Amino acid sequence: MMADGEKVLVRVPASTANLGPGFDTLGMALNLYAWIEMAAAERNDISLFGDELRGVPADESNLVFQVAQRVFREAGIRMPCLSIAMYSDIPLTRGLGSSASAIIGAMAAANALAGSPLTDDDMFQLATRMEDHPDNVGASLFGGIVVAQWDGERARKIRIEPPARLEVLAVIPEFHLSTEKARQALPGSVALKDAVFNVAGSSLLVAALAAGDLAMIRHAMRDALHQPYRAALIPGMRRILAEAPDHGALGAALSGAGPTLLALADAASCDKLRLERFMLGAFAQEGVAAKALWLKPDRGGVQILTSPGGNSTFIDNIRHIKGEVRA
Ligand code: HSE
Repeated sequence: MMADGEKVLVRVPASTANLGPGFDTLGMALNLYAWIEMAAAERNDISLFGDELRGVPADESNLVFQVAQRVFREAGIRMPCLSIAMYSDIPLTRGLGSSASAIIGAMAAANALAGSPLTDDDMFQLATRMEDHPDNVGASLFGGIVVAQWDGERARKIRIEPPARLEVLAVIPEFHLSTEKARQALPGSVALKDAVFNVAGSSLLVAALAAGDLAMIRHAMRDALHQPYRAALIPGMRRILAEAPDHGALGAALSGAGPTLLALADAASCDKLRLERFMLGAFAQEGVAAKALWLKPDRGGVQILTSPGGNSTFIDNIRHIKGEVRA
């Protein structure tokens, strides 16, 4: 265990899952973050900061607290009372892996506080069991692009370094869509030709990303297993996915279970503004308010940071780390 009063500060990235054809299999970490500070304390105390965490419970039903409890139980260590502070820039229930980020951030913080009894692989197994698919949790834990398999007992993964020029345009509608609802839209079985189409797409996409073949992405990033069914829940999605490559995208997909739509772009492209206007415009035509965020792949995954310490508050420290205020 860490010494009394010592704080652990963790930064954890958001992620996008599926990347089109890699349903429940491919994930990529994004440079959009949540921060969690955890310390042993005299009583349990949870403080949440930032607009994105509005409405999240700040009691012992809080996911971060529950995951911390699970880590201590798993490690066979008695959990102290915990003081937890969290700030997040990751929108909730929009398909950017906010719950996976909370799980991985909480796990990394509690594990560090407990003296690191769990390995990265232990955390990957535990988080995959909690989420029931390894795509988002794998990306938030390891960073980069994660190709993962989950057979219900063990999760396995290979991490790929994202191509250097890869950028990501996330267009985030204002409405929420729960993963549960987006999974209910899926059929119980699919035709063999659709399964084969996805095996081809997912394999080609992984090869294209590993080889840095950006031109192949538009052909590989197509899906027949989940996006056609989920399109009914997201006005404008069908058109955006079909036409984004003609407006400067390398390829486009539903981000995780949605409703965020994601386009991959070449950082050196002159078409980035055109792409952003097209995606926002197509949503606007359907009456969907949305915001566009230009992101990059996160390459490091969850990080234990040095807590600035001193007398400044958690939120001042986060603003300082984000460069929003000067020392
Ligand atoms: N792979 C999952 C899905 C991601 O598409 O339902 C959501 O967490």
